[in-house]
Amino acid sequence: MHIDIISVVPGLLEGPFSHSILKRAEEKGIATVRVHNLRDYATGKQKQVDDYAFGGGAGMVLMAAPIAACIEALKQERDYDEILYMTPDGAPFSQPMANALSLKKNIMILCGHYKGVDERIRTQYITREISIGDYVLSGGELAAAVVADALIRLLPGVLNDETSALTDSFQDGLLAPPVYTRPAVWNGEAVPEVLLSGHTEHIANWRFEASVRRTQERRPDLYRKFEEGDENSTR
Ligand code: ADE
Repeated sequence: MHIDIISVVPGLLEGPFSHSILKRAEEKGIATVRVHNLRDYATGKQKQVDDYAFGGGAGMVLMAAPIAACIEALKQERDYDEILYMTPDGAPFSQPMANALSLKKNIMILCGHYKGVDERIRTQYITREISIGDYVLSGGELAAAVVADALIRLLPGVLNDETSALTDSFQDGLLAPPVYTRPAVWNGEAVPEVLLSGHTEHIANWRFEASVRRTQERRPDLYRKFEEGDENSTR
């Protein structure tokens, strides 16, 4: 997978992709991420990338021309399966969306800033608009890093234990069960007996029930969906 990210503050994205799992994905050649500075595509002496909003009001808007120039330049290099725009008014990001996007080969991500981008970029270039939650960040960069991380960790060979992404929270519509490591008793609190039993089936059943309980307690919205799904499945 190759991900190109377009930003006016590329420095914000210097950290996440050079550590841990994402770094390993790059080293193994499974995923590459490149960050592009929108200012490099601005024309004129000032290298202007933003301007006042027509109609007035506070806040600047990223201009269409530099963004289009950057997108067109990148399109010369590869064919993109998706051009994403990170914005609080996009579709809520979710595990099913991450699963679907992780199957794509080339993805471009445009980060908004200030009041966002000229609407004509959204109508003419963007294939999908994504929000990572109902709150407003100062720009789309951290949101783009969230999306890129969620996709890359799903790619085969990125996680050491390939099955571990399948047991994440949300992969089966449930939150993940509690986990423990040594010592078996810590600060007066013992690990549930069954996890020490070595009995694979009992452990799997305990984990499933703990997942269901945790989802019911913490995320009644997910639990309702899970129950509805269960009525239509043979699980
Ligand atoms: N840009 C600013 N806030 C955002 C959010 N919540 N999700 C995605 N992009 C954003």
